[in-house]
Amino acid sequence: MATPRNHFLLFLNLAFLFSAAIATKVNTENQPTVYIINSMPPNSQSIEVNCSSASSPIVDRELLVTEAYQLNVESKIPYLCIARMTQRRYIQIFDAYLPSRDKAHCKIYWLVNQDGFYLSWDRDKWVRKALWQSE
Ligand SMILES: *[C@@H]1O[C@H](CO)[C@@H](O)[C@H](O)[C@H]1NC(C)=O
Repeated sequence: MATPRNHFLLFLNLAFLFSAAIATKVNTENQPTVYIINSMPPNSQSIEVNCSSASSPIVDRELLVTEAYQLNVESKIPYLCIARMTQRRYIQIFDAYLPSRDKAHCKIYWLVNQDGFYLSWDRDKWVRKALWQSE
């Protein structure tokens, strides 16, 4: 029966469904993305990068110069990556994503060159966070 009370319940149901749909959408849009960019000089070797978290398997990539590794992360979980110059014996582990440091940002950029690993949230201000280590 279409009593006012039934209409009200139907309205509540629909309102709930719509807000759930919006929450899901916002949630995916808020999933941060980490970009790791091989910024070695032209004609340099590639860089091998493996990234993982406690809840995701290792993703193994080889980056040519100027190529970027794009990693969608869960905002509450830290991600570690290990990078290695493929032709030379240099390697480093770095915190690709740290919730305590990065959670306010939806894009986290890493620029990797001969001098090390630089972090930025806006691709304007870069801070070196790690150096290459010899193997
Ligand atoms: C990356 O992962 C691949 C496949 O598991 C492995 O062969 C390689 O040694 C790893 N690279 C580094 C730098 O750990």
